[in-house]
Amino acid sequence: MEPSTPNVARMYDYYLGGDEALPVDREAAELVLATAPQVRTAVAENRGFLERVVTHMAAQGIDQFLDIGSGLPTQRNVHQILAEVSPGARVVYVDYDPVVVERSIHLLAGIDTADCMLGDVRKLSALCDEPRVSELINFDRPVGVLLLAVLNFVGDEDNPAEVVSELRRLTAPGSLVALSHGAREQSLSTSRGIEHAYRRASGQAVLRTRTEVLRLLDGCEILPPGLVYGAQWTAEPSAPMGDPGTAMTFAALARL
Ligand SMILES: C[S@@+](CC[C@H](N)C(=O)[O-])C[C@H]1O[C@@H](n2cnc3c(N)ncnc32)[C@H](O)[C@@H]1O
Repeated sequence: MEPSTPNVARMYDYYLGGDEALPVDREAAELVLATAPQVRTAVAENRGFLERVVTHMAAQGIDQFLDIGSGLPTQRNVHQILAEVSPGARVVYVDYDPVVVERSIHLLAGIDTADCMLGDVRKLSALCDEPRVSELINFDRPVGVLLLAVLNFVGDEDNPAEVVSELRRLTAPGSLVALSHGAREQSLSTSRGIEHAYRRASGQAVLRTRTEVLRLLDGCEILPPGLVYGAQWTAEPSAPMGDPGTAMTFAALARL
């Protein structure tokens, strides 16, 4: 039977031009695009941030990654970037959506440096205890954690700031976290329109202000260039601050 709930991972794939979306996902995604057509560009900016930040983390010597809320496999996934910039580096993809996990496991067949498993960003200690995670990730060594466009599906009632605090407890010194998060800096009607369009979906979008997103990284040292818009993020210390692009997502790299 066709699902009747729009799936946030398939909606995201639709914005990126993938072909996983079902009619119910397309309908919900079109509702978002009617409110904010720039969402398509914003998700491309987010994937650009992913590529730059993973490349930079690998250049800093991080060779094991946990990508939480990884989404449906698309072009330039973390293991593909790592194969080019740091062959042998490992990644565990985690998502709470069985559809995502099934598709990812299929894609990763035969690749021994990457795996995907079901897990919830709100239950991190259970996740880190999973034997399949510890097969690829040694938590006694620095790990690169990716929280890209996932905490904007964790409502305040689930205490999203606790996610990063928990990561600080669970990871070794030298570990880094890359965060991106939907921004509530656009017009009130755009923010409300987006949140409204996600109300029926498998995850409710929660856009946050700069101050609220900074609070999610409490206790961490945010590395240059700080919390900026996704299109602006660069690890180049001398680069001038670039164009904010759609200004729809915040992005930062921080020391856990
Ligand atoms: C917008 S996609 C982001 C995909 C990818 N991280 C990126 O930025 O390109 C959000 C993903 O987070 C997943 N997700 C939402 N809430 C989650 C939770 N509590 N735990 C784990 N995954 C979650 C969704 O299933 C979806 O695949």
